Amino acid sequence: MSSPTSSTLPKDECIVQLPYDPEEHPREKSRHYISATGEDIASMLETVKLNHLPELFSHLPQEQLFKGNLDLPEELSYEVAADHLLRVSQKTKLHTSFIGDLLPVWKVHPIVGQVSQLRPLSTSYTPYQPERSQGTLVTHWIYQCVVSNLTGFEAINTSLYDRSAAIFEAICCARRSRKRPGSVLLAQSLFEEDISFLHTHARGTDLNFEIGPLDTTTGKLDYDKIKIIVEEKHSVISAMVFPQVNSLGLLEEVDFLSDLARQWDIPSIAVIDPMLLATGGLKPPSNFGSGGVDFIAGEAQHLAIPPSFGGPGLGLFGSRYNEHSKKDLRNTPGRYIGKAKDSQNRDCFVMVLSTREQHIRKEKATSNVCSNQAFLATIAGANLLAKGENGLKNALAHAAHSRRQVSEWVRQRDGIELAFPHSAAFTELVLSVSEDPEILLRRAREDGLHFGVDVSSRLTSGEKKLIKLSFSDVQGEEELASLKKFIFDNFPASSQTENEAMIPSNLLRTEPTNLPSFSHDELINYYEQLANLNISPDDGCYPLGSCTMKYNPLLNDWAAGLEGFSQAHPQAPEEDVQGPLEVLYEIQEWFKSITGLAGVTTQPVAGAQGELVGLKLFQAYHQSRGEDHRNIILIPKSAHGTNFATAATAGYGSGIVYLQANEEGRIDLTDFRQKIDEHGKNLCGIMITNPNTSGIFETDFSTIAQDVHQAGGLVYMDGANMNAIAGIVDLSKLGVDAVHNNLHKTWTIPHGGGGPGDAIVAVSEPLVPFLPGKQIYKDKDGYFRSYTPESSIGTFHRNWGNFGHKVRAYSYLLRLGKEGVPRMSSVAVLAARYLFEVLRFHYPTLPAHAGQISRMHEFILTLSDQDFERLEKVGVPKSQAIPQVGKLFLDFGFHAPTVAFPEVFGLMIEPTESYTKAELDRFARAVISIKDLVENYPQVVTTAPHFTPIDRVDEVAANRNLCLSEKLSHLPSLPVNRIQPHVLLELDTDEIKRRILQLHDLAE
Ligand SMILES: Cc1ncc(COP(=O)(O)O)c(C=O)c1O
Repeated sequence: MSSPTSSTLPKDECIVQLPYDPEEHPREKSRHYISATGEDIASMLETVKLNHLPELFSHLPQEQLFKGNLDLPEELSYEVAADHLLRVSQKTKLHTSFIGDLLPVWKVHPIVGQVSQLRPLSTSYTPYQPERSQGTLVTHWIYQCVVSNLTGFEAINTSLYDRSAAIFEAICCARRSRKRPGSVLLAQSLFEEDISFLHTHARGTDLNFEIGPLDTTTGKLDYDKIKIIVEEKHSVISAMVFPQVNSLGLLEEVDFLSDLARQWDIPSIAVIDPMLLATGGLKPPSNFGSGGVDFIAGEAQHLAIPPSFGGPGLGLFGSRYNEHSKKDLRNTPGRYIGKAKDSQNRDCFVMVLSTREQHIRKEKATSNVCSNQAFLATIAGANLLAKGENGLKNALAHAAHSRRQVSEWVRQRDGIELAFPHSAAFTELVLSVSEDPEILLRRAREDGLHFGVDVSSRLTSGEKKLIKLSFSDVQGEEELASLKKFIFDNFPASSQTENEAMIPSNLLRTEPTNLPSFSHDELINYYEQLANLNISPDDGCYPLGSCTMKYNPLLNDWAAGLEGFSQAHPQAPEEDVQGPLEVLYEIQEWFKSITGLAGVTTQPVAGAQGELVGLKLFQAYHQSRGEDHRNIILIPKSAHGTNFATAATAGYGSGIVYLQANEEGRIDLTDFRQKIDEHGKNLCGIMITNPNTSGIFETDFSTIAQDVHQAGGLVYMDGANMNAIAGIVDLSKLGVDAVHNNLHKTWTIPHGGGGPGDAIVAVSEPLVPFLPGKQIYKDKDGYFRSYTPESSIGTFHRNWGNFGHKVRAYSYLLRLGKEGVPRMSSVAVLAARYLFEVLRFHYPTLPAHAGQISRMHEFILTLSDQDFERLEKVGVPKSQAIPQVGKLFLDFGFHAPTVAFPEVFGLMIEPTESYTKAELDRFARAVISIKDLVENYPQVVTTAPHFTPIDRVDEVAANRNLCLSEKLSHLPSLPVNRIQPHVLLELDTDEIKRRILQLHDLAE
C-alpha cells in the first residue's frame, strides 16, 4: 500500500494557498478533528469509571478486535495534507475538451460556490424538523419550481442518485402505478451505461426488457420496427423508455414515440436533459405528442457542479400532478417539498408524501432511497435562478452556434464527415472518420485537445468509426480555434460541402420559459438568510442518532473543489486522470484495511445503494453455485427501513423474515435459530446493523454469522454505525461478507440537507470476483489502471460513483492516519457513554432491560409512564409525545434527536467525537431541563418549539392539499428566527427555560 509521498515534505516547501484561514475555525485544526482535550477525555473516562480509551471496548469479544495498527499511512499535518491533496490533483491533465456525452459540462454561476460555503445549508441533515430546516426546504422548493418550469412537469422530486437511477425508479413507479404486465421497452439509443445499470438491477427480479432497435442509417430509433413491436406486444409491455437526445447526440421523434405509447396505454418515460429545455431549446416533455409523456428522468449534475470525475450526480425525476393526472404521484420514489402553514398561519414548507418512503413503509415502500442528492438540488436551484431566463438562453444559443460552426468546418474537409447529416442534432456532433478513432483521439491529446469520445460501438452494425463531440457554454473562441486548427491540420480541404438537417420545428420549444431574473446580490443575500434558518454541526452537538452528525472539515471541501479533481471528466483517457484514479485506488485499499475484508468497491453512492450492491452480490454468488432458490433474507425488526426496502428492490420482497430482539435489544438467538431451522435451505443471507440501532454491540454476531454460513447463507453488515467501531473491530473476524461504510456519517462527508451521501462497500474473499464497476490497480510503472472483475454483477453508476465525496474521505483519512481512525471511534463512544452516564439518572432508557449494557456511540432515552400521562392530560397523545418533546431540543439551540426510531417511544442520541466536554455538558443540561419541563410544566410541550422561525407545521393539511410547485415570480418570503440559533447556544439553559415559561406566564 502506498503512503503519501509528501508526508516528509518540509513545511516551507508546501505549495498551498488555502482560501480560508483554518485557525479561525476551532474544530478544523484539532488533531483527528476531535475537539475534546486530553483533560476532557480523562475527565469523561473518570465519569464512566474507566482508565483508558481501549477499556471502552472491553465488553466486546476480544478476538474480534484489531491487534496493532491498521495498514494506513501515518497521519499528515494540516499543511502537508493540503499540499499532498494539491499535488495529487495536479496529476490530472486538463485539456481543452469536447467530451460531454454521458455527463454534459456547462458553466455554473459563481453563486454555486458561495451557496456551497453556507455551512448550515451544506452540513445540515434531511429536513425532518421543518421548524429548524426552512433554509433547506426553501432551496428545494425553488429547485422543484424551476425544474417544473423547464420541463412542464408539476411534481419534481428533490433528486435521485443520477440519471440511471432515475430511469430505474421511473420504470418501477410506472409498473407499480399502472399495474401492467410484461417487459419494459427500452430504446436502444439510450446510453449503454444506463441500460447496463438497468440490467444489473433487474437481475433476480421480475423486471425484464425488450430493446427497441436503432436504425443504423439514421442513427435514430427504427420507428417502423418499434411501431410493429408495440402493435404486436402492447398487452405485455409495461412501460416504454426513450431519450429526447439519444446517445449519438441526435434528436429522437418524441411526438411519435409519446403518441405511440399513449395510443396503447403504455406508460411513457422520456429521458431528458433539463438544460436543453431552456428558452431557445428543445420542446418540454409535457408537450411531447398530443398529451406529453407520463414520467421524466434525467441527469442534472451539470446544473449544479462541474464533472467531478462523474459525481455526485443529480438524478432528475418528475411525474404529472394536475387536474387531469394525479394517479402516479403516490407511487413515485424520492422526496418532495410542499407548501404548508404553521400553527400561526405563517407560510412555510415541509416534506410531504413521506408515507411512501422506506422509513415508514419498509419493504412496501416505493423505493429504497434514503439519502438522495439534496445539496445538488439546492445549488442547481440557485444556479438556475442566478442564470435566469437570459443566462440559460444565451448559454444554449452559444452551444448550438459552436456546434453549427464546427459542423461547417467539418463539412469542408475530407476524411471526416457528419455521420448522420440527415438527422437533426442540437448541441452534439457525431463525426465519421476514416482512421481508427483511438489513433485520432491520441493525436488530438498530443495537441492538448480532448477531441471527443469514440462512440463506434453504439452503432451495432459496426461499419462506421464514430467520434462524438459535445458543445456547451464552456468552450469559448479560444477552444473552438484549437479545435478548428486540429481539424484543418489533420484533414485536407474538400471540394464539396454537404448539407445538414435543420431541427424540425416540432422538436423545439415554442414558448419562452419566462424564468425570473434576480441580481447576484439579491440572491446571495437571500441564500444567506436561508442558511440562518438552519443549524449546522459546526456550531454544536447535533444529536441525531444513527446519523453521525460530526464535524465536516473545510479541508475536505477545498480538496474536492481542486481543479484536477472537480474538472476531471470521467470519460477522459485514464492517462490524463491519474490524480482521481490515485484517490480511488488509495481509498479502495484503505477500506480493505479499515474493514479487514478482501475487496472493496467505491461505486455505490449511498448506504441504501450499498445494501443493494451487497444483496446483488449475494444473489450472484448463490447463482454461481447453482443455488438460485435461496430467496430468504433475515432482518432484525429494529433495522433501518432501507434494509427491508433494499431486500424488496433486489427481488426478495416476499422472502423477508423479521428477527426479534431479546430484552436487552440484541438479536434473540432462540428466535434466530428457529428461523434458521425453518429457512436454512432457502437462506440467501442476513442483514445486521452493528452496533445496532439501539447503540448496542451485537456480541453474538460471529455466532450468528457462523450459523448463517453453515446454512449456506451470507452476512451483510449495515455499517451505518461504523463510527463506533472503525479501526477497532476486524469485520472479517465477525464473519461479515459485505458491509457499507456511509461516507456521509463516519467519514465526514457533509449531509447536505439530505445528500449526496456515499457508500464504500467492502466484501469477503468469495464475493470479490463479483464486484460491480471497475477495480483500480497500480501497474509496474506506477500508473493507475482499471479493470472490470470477471464475474462482475454489473454497474451501479454510469461512472465512478460520487467521486467528489471520495476526495473528501481521502482528505479526512490523510489527517487521521492509522492512529486517528481508532481514536476517532473511541472518543465517539466515550462521548456517548459519558452522556448516557449523566442522563440515565434523569430519564428511563431503552431497551428497557438493557440499562446495564455498555452503550457504543449512541443511546436511547424515553419518558416515564407518569410523564406520558402528564402529557396526555395537557392534550399530547402518547403517540405524539416523543416527536413533540423532540421539538423542545430546538428551543435550546440543538437539532432534535432521532425520534420514534428504532423504538417508537425513544429519543436516540448520538453525540459523536466532535465536541468538547463543555459542549457535551451544556447539551446534557439542556436535556435535563427538558425533562424538568415535561415533569413540571407539561403544557409547554404543546407549543414547542418556541424560538424557531415558525411554529409547528400542519403536515396533515400540507399532505391533503398538495402544492409541489408554482411559477416563481418572486423569491418566497421568509420567516425570521425569534431567537438566532447561535444566541440560543450561548444562553444558559436555565435562562432558556425561564424564557419558555415566561411565554406561558409561568416564570417565577
Ligand atoms: C442504520 C442505517 N442504515 C441505512 C441507512 C441508509 O443510508 P443512506 O441514507 O446513505 O442510504 C441509514 C441512514 O440513515 C441508517 O441509519
